Amino acid sequence: MTKPTIRLPEGYHLHELEVIDSTNEEAKRLADKGAPSGALIWARQQTSGRGRRGRAWVSPVGNLYSSLLLRPDCPLFEAAKLTFLIAVAMAEAIELVSGNRIRPDCKWPNDLMVNGRKISGILLESASNNGSETDYLVIGAGVNVAFYPDDAERPATSLSALGAPVSVGELLSAYAGRVARWLPVWETQGFAPIREAWLMRAYGIGAPVIARLTERTLEGTFVGLDDDGSLVLRETGGTEHRIGAGEVFFKA
Ligand code: BTN
Repeated sequence: MTKPTIRLPEGYHLHELEVIDSTNEEAKRLADKGAPSGALIWARQQTSGRGRRGRAWVSPVGNLYSSLLLRPDCPLFEAAKLTFLIAVAMAEAIELVSGNRIRPDCKWPNDLMVNGRKISGILLESASNNGSETDYLVIGAGVNVAFYPDDAERPATSLSALGAPVSVGELLSAYAGRVARWLPVWETQGFAPIREAWLMRAYGIGAPVIARLTERTLEGTFVGLDDDGSLVLRETGGTEHRIGAGEVFFKA
């Protein structure tokens, strides 16, 4: 099989692997050995791919598995909002490589959806030296290019199933390009423009939403994204809640 040529913007370094346990794990190993910001780990296959909430991320050859190592100079709570930047960058990359045929929506906190089905998931992991400043961030992004898991509870799709059988290498190049376009925006203007771009693609905005939190379940309408990345849920009576973590379900 001929290897695809990956074009990375200046300052990004590719670590290309046939198979690995998890690109996030590999990124963390590299980070612990002092790898610089901009290391992009890409594997054709993962044997222990991980999703959020301890779920497995099934990772056969044919889909995209990547993890980006970043060392932003800001507190962890600020750095965590970079997942929204990654979601926007990946949505734009999918749009580009599909020739504008597929326009993913961003589902809070960081899934990409097409026609109400999940096509991509993002897993952010971080390390701090002192509990508040960021040592590094590892942002893993998986995209269903050729395959998608058959899970009735969480319907998924793939680019192939949507009639856009793109090359994983091209998608990775486009993604790196979009990250390189957005990161300087973040560095110079902060979260506001990222938030705006994310909201333009927000899945379920204005729709009924159920948020399952550790202690309770809230029902209301998804009315916005707060400056700190929280989902804003408005109950029927008008009370607004900022949801920082948890799982949300749209009745759609
Ligand atoms: C989710 O939606 O639950 C997040 C899924 C994240 C999957 C990606 S694939 C590349 C990277 N390596 C992993 O083990 N997980 C992330």
